[in-house]
Amino acid sequence: MPRDAREPLAGQAIFVTGAARGIGAAAARRLAADGAVVGLADVLDCNDTLASIREAGGTARAWTLDISDRDACMRVIGEAITDFGRLDALVCNAGVCPPGSVAGDWIQWHRVIDINLHGTQHCVAAAWEPMSAQGAGNIVIVTSMAWYQGGVIVGTEYSASKAALVGMTRHIARNGGPLGIRCNAVAPGFIDTDMTADFPRGELDLIPLRRRGTPEDVAGPIGFLCGPDSAYMTGCVLNVTGGIVLAA
Ligand SMILES: NC(=O)c1ccc[n+]([C@@H]2O[C@H](COP(=O)([O-])OP(=O)(O)OC[C@H]3O[C@@H](n4cnc5c(N)ncnc54)[C@H](O)[C@@H]3O)[C@@H](O)[C@H]2O)c1
Repeated sequence: MPRDAREPLAGQAIFVTGAARGIGAAAARRLAADGAVVGLADVLDCNDTLASIREAGGTARAWTLDISDRDACMRVIGEAITDFGRLDALVCNAGVCPPGSVAGDWIQWHRVIDINLHGTQHCVAAAWEPMSAQGAGNIVIVTSMAWYQGGVIVGTEYSASKAALVGMTRHIARNGGPLGIRCNAVAPGFIDTDMTADFPRGELDLIPLRRRGTPEDVAGPIGFLCGPDSAYMTGCVLNVTGGIVLAA
């Protein structure tokens, strides 16, 4: 397929979870600007993201979806595939990060694992057969630097869920490759979103680039992983941390 530098994702249909705000909203806008038709899903309404994509001339449709509900993931992603006629990429971005501790709350442990890990798997499961039948597909999973760095403010369950997503990424890459399905992950550091609004701001000395990231800083690597320039990459984790990995 010839590469269009202005719209590298032209002709692609991409589904993004957690698209109401933050990294997911920025990724959805970026993917639409790069020419993809984008499915937006979130427990919150995605009206602002949808409006901004349409105002910029892009094409998108939104669904309300709780990714911890497996049946709902199957139904909604199935509807998106019917609507778009295919599914080229799935961006598993939705997640939660309540403050926590090592001997944290057991109910919270289950909630975080249910959303961050099980919810991601529900979405992958919904996309897997259609992508296999197409003989092509691309899955991008949003993990976190907490998977290798341990996480400080976040609960144990958050770091555990994000480490599990890296194992999942590698498993999907290994098994999806022969079917034409790629899978990679991005591991953001400190990104300015609602999720980190209440985090203490003492971390700047740890970041070689000396600033928190923006949602757009993560949207770029997600767009790259969805696009043709990463065609020979699978099973990778891209750190998007302003260099924290160097300082750890
Ligand atoms: N902000 C950071 O510093 C940072 C760092 C590392 C990783 N991440 C990861 O990036 C992803 C996006 O986070 P963000 O910073 O944009 O946070 P955010 O809170 O702004 O956005 C997360 C989105 O996920 C949605 N969501 C939560 N639970 C859901 C569910 N059950 N079903 C569907 N949607 C749900 C929320 O409604 C929200 O719109 C998350 O997976 C997060 O763990 C963020």
